[in-house]
Amino acid sequence: MTQQTVGLYQGEKVVRYYTTVKGGTAGETGGVDEEVLAYLKSILPKSMRRRIALDAGCGDCRWSEYLHRLGARRVIGLDNSPDMLALAAKRKVERDLGRLRLIRADMQEMPLLSESVDLVLASFSLMYFPALEHMIRAIARVLTSGGELYLATNLVTIDDSLLLKELKGKVIPIDLGTGGQTIPLENVVQPLEQYKSAFCAGGLVLDHEKYFDPEGLSVTPGYQHKEHIVLSKAVFKLSRG
Ligand SMILES: C[S@@+](CC[C@H](N)C(=O)[O-])C[C@H]1O[C@@H](n2cnc3c(N)ncnc32)[C@H](O)[C@@H]1O
Repeated sequence: MTQQTVGLYQGEKVVRYYTTVKGGTAGETGGVDEEVLAYLKSILPKSMRRRIALDAGCGDCRWSEYLHRLGARRVIGLDNSPDMLALAAKRKVERDLGRLRLIRADMQEMPLLSESVDLVLASFSLMYFPALEHMIRAIARVLTSGGELYLATNLVTIDDSLLLKELKGKVIPIDLGTGGQTIPLENVVQPLEQYKSAFCAGGLVLDHEKYFDPEGLSVTPGYQHKEHIVLSKAVFKLSRG
């Protein structure tokens, strides 16, 4: 039951996203998401020795590089965008990431063995899926028992219960604005409860949750339900029982 990811993270748009977030290097300062990135780093293990890590929706592999530097035995950078994987391949060579393996695949159908990965990091790559539960199960499948999922996402919540029912799982237009540039994005409306029930269905236990200001994100002007939609960013840390 593979569903189409909502349309914007392809080709030129995904590259523009990266230009906007300062080349997407997790270690660099500036750009958007700095607070979220710093928090993620503070809760990730301090060493990855002997562990296998999966960077799901890796983009240009800024996080793969970070996990590699923590000493992971192997890092798998998985993405379905050839443009992003081309940037990742460049990074692999330039930064000498010999234990990084790049895979072009859809996160919903990962060509990985069950229980073969100790840690999954999904940084801003899961907010395009109407079938969130299916996606979380797909991630949980590849995790070893006791394995961990670190998830950073834009969260779209709605303060009107009837409207929430109508929009749940639907795509809404949002803008990422920074440094005078605006990039149109799309997010799928997934209430927090939806995330939590998907975690449960995947057999994942929530260890930490933290919420951040939407920084740079706003619902596109003119969208009819704009005033009922609240954007935030969230980081979840989960483990597989
Ligand atoms: C906003 S970028 C984040 C990239 C990276 N995780 C980071 O934090 O820099 C989202 C990434 O998810 C990837 N992506 C979206 N849908 C996907 C899917 N169905 N399967 C694999 N990758 C996907 C996109 O190609 C893109 O590289």
